[in-house]
Parts: sequence; structure tokens; C-alpha cells
Amino acid sequence: MKEKRNLSYYVWLAHRISGVILVLYLFAHLWTLSAALAGEKSFDQTLQVFDNPVVRFFELILVAVVVFHTLNGLRLICLDLLPALPQEALSYTVIIITVLAALASVPFFF
Ligand code: HEM
Repeated sequence: MKEKRNLSYYVWLAHRISGVILVLYLFAHLWTLSAALAGEKSFDQTLQVFDNPVVRFFELILVAVVVFHTLNGLRLICLDLLPALPQEALSYTVIIITVLAALASVPFFF
């Protein structure tokens, strides 16, 4: 029989995926900053690549990824230290704060 996947599974999966996205972002960020070494003009040209709505949308997603990974990481650390904490309620809290943070960030990107 197929086992039903619960909230913990999806939050675990999202934490893993967000961790990988953060590592990939780190490399992309270092690549962008390295353009500054080639001078002001080169840096400006590189930054222009990011000045469009599609990239801004992905930057908004990145805000959600950072907030989710940080809060969920803190949730996991807290649960390691205090296993009696309400795991599911904390997961929902992390999800709600992540969604609110992403929504509050919209005016900064568009
Ligand atoms: C304050 C910020 C952060 C906190 C509190 C945090 C916390 C955590 C914790 C507790 C885990 C272990 C999860 C588990 O045991 O299943 C983890 C996994 C991971 N983190 Fe972070 N993290 C933070 C920032 C970052 C950053 C900046 C990156 C990347 C540049 C990153 C990449 C990863 C990756 C790749 C994993 C492994 C995911 C997996 O294999 O499931 N984290 N993080």
C-alpha cells in the first residue's frame, strides 16, 4: 500500500531544495560580484542583465527561499534542543511567515 506523505515530509523536501538553491545562488552571486574586478563598466553591464521582470520575479522567490530555509533551519535546531515543542504548529508558522515575507517584498521588486 502506498504510504501517505505528511507535512513533515514536504517541509523536509522544501528544506533540502531550498538548501541546494542557496548554494547555487551563492555561486551566481560570486560570479556577479567578480564582474566588479573588471571595472565599473563591466559591473554595470552585468547588473543590467538582472534588470528585468523575470529576474525580479526569481529574486522575489529567492527572498522566500532564504526566509524559509533560515526559519526552518532554526525550527530544526530548536526541535533538536527541545523535542517536546509542537513540530507541526512550528512548521505552519514557518510557512505562514515565509508567505507573508514574500508578499511584503513584492513592492520592492515591482
Ligand atoms: C541562518 C541561516 C541558516 C540556517 C539557520 C540553516 C540551517 C540548516 C539546518 C538546521 C540544516 C540541517 C537540516 C536537516 O538536519 O535536515 C541545513 C541544511 C542545509 N543548509 Fe542551511 N541554514 C542556513 C543557511 C544556509 C545557507 C546560506 C546555505 C547555502 C549557501 C545553506 C545550505 C544548506 C544545505 C545545502 C543544507 C542540506 C540540506 C539537506 O541535505 O537536506 N544553508 N541548514
